[in-house]
Amino acid sequence: MKIAVLNGSPKGQISVTMQYVHFLERKFPGIEFKFFDVALKIKKLEKDDKAFQEIIAEIAAADAVLWAFPLYFLLVASQYKRFIELIFERNVTASFRGKPAAVLTTSINFFDYTAHNYIHAICDDLQMNYFGSYSAEMNDLMKSRERQRLKTFGELFIMAIKDGTPSIRNNKPLIAPDVVFAAEKITPVETEGKKVLIVVDDAAEGSNLFQMVERLRQTFSPAAELVQLKDIDIKGGCLGCVQCGFDNVCAYEGKDGFIDFFNQKIKTADILFFAGSVHDRYLSSLWKCYFDRSFFNGHIPVLPDKQIGFVISGPFSQIYNLREIFEASVEMQHAGLVGFVSDDMGSPAEINVALQNIASRSAIQSKLGYIQPPTFYQVAGTKLFRDAVWSRLRVVFQADHRYYKEHGMYNFPQKNYKWRIINSTLVLLTKIPAVRREFIKRMKTEMIKPCANVVKKTEPRV
Ligand SMILES: Cc1cc2nc3c(=O)[nH]c(=O)nc-3n(C[C@H](O)[C@H](O)[C@H](O)COP(=O)(O)O)c2cc1C
Repeated sequence: MKIAVLNGSPKGQISVTMQYVHFLERKFPGIEFKFFDVALKIKKLEKDDKAFQEIIAEIAAADAVLWAFPLYFLLVASQYKRFIELIFERNVTASFRGKPAAVLTTSINFFDYTAHNYIHAICDDLQMNYFGSYSAEMNDLMKSRERQRLKTFGELFIMAIKDGTPSIRNNKPLIAPDVVFAAEKITPVETEGKKVLIVVDDAAEGSNLFQMVERLRQTFSPAAELVQLKDIDIKGGCLGCVQCGFDNVCAYEGKDGFIDFFNQKIKTADILFFAGSVHDRYLSSLWKCYFDRSFFNGHIPVLPDKQIGFVISGPFSQIYNLREIFEASVEMQHAGLVGFVSDDMGSPAEINVALQNIASRSAIQSKLGYIQPPTFYQVAGTKLFRDAVWSRLRVVFQADHRYYKEHGMYNFPQKNYKWRIINSTLVLLTKIPAVRREFIKRMKTEMIKPCANVVKKTEPRV
């Protein structure tokens, strides 16, 4: 039996993820694992169709495919995303059809599920026989229980390949919108000195995206600044070298225009709109490259208090996963979410209303400094980063560590001495049956007391 391993690490074989695949290789010596470093070699595969077709032929000849990759910004790395785009662009989907597929990722478990959802959907789009996804924390291999778990996953996958177990499809094919958008009824929105920047990829002249972006740009008075991602000198995707972890200095520093663009344009805007077209189940790989390359900033909010909105052409409302990725990304930046407008949301008139709405909303939210309260994404994500940077990632991410210390982000609950004393006392007291009875009787009223006191003292708005 032959399994084609599609390696999504830009580091090629010097990859944590590949160690997990090699573990399976050692466990199952009867299986031939064939490795293809498609993310590392993406530039060659883009230019050299023969090299690309050779890999596709190997995939066609394999009994199964293992998508093995590191998590990059809630998804796959841009280089891997580009490989997936090439499968569709070069019309080689037939080589994947009906083939058993499994997913193996390594990460720190930050939005691993959105990446898994993405690849699962890609497998469904390719009509593969999707078996399942395995999310390994990057240090799991050192734990015997986790090795046992991974071995069992391997066993189950091999059994499914042998049995030809059919997959349960989760994702219906996407239906492209057939709306033709044209701008109408623009009511100017005064920016009142706020800097509005629209960053777009894929806006071919005359396309819906182009028209929507132009409509949005002209809604602002003065008109918003527009930057096309393709006009920025980006030499390549994130290399995963993580040298930026020390002082936020990227390996590309001085070698291309991305860092200057990010520092001079993105960081200085008050209101940002990201615009693009749906490519497979995300935006373009160039958009993914933008997010991956912003990794030089570390695991900290670098766009706090900005307002961020999205304008998307394509079947966006059918890809909830993508919305979730962007919502979470905005929250992690401590920015305000303005909203999403896509050309599959309704009629041209409704899209016009929505574009008008996001323009005015961004201006008013920016003026009032309104940022939505954090939800699970930011609350949980921040704790995950906090714990990781405080412990095993500190040496590599020293810039994050300094930032977390300076900004009081090491807010571990065990440091809350007031609550530790209250808790120990109350836990002890409630062991006495009479106290516990009284505690339970008063619990509801006591629970609302602190909030009710605030409400009582609240003055009317002046
Ligand atoms: C640019 C970049 C983005 C990352 N994004 C995520 C992420 O969104 N979630 C996560 O849990 N880990 C993330 N990681 C961590 C990697 O997924 C993790 O270190 C992985 O084990 C690296 O595997 P590799 O050595 O095979 O490339 C990111 C790392 C880099 C360099």
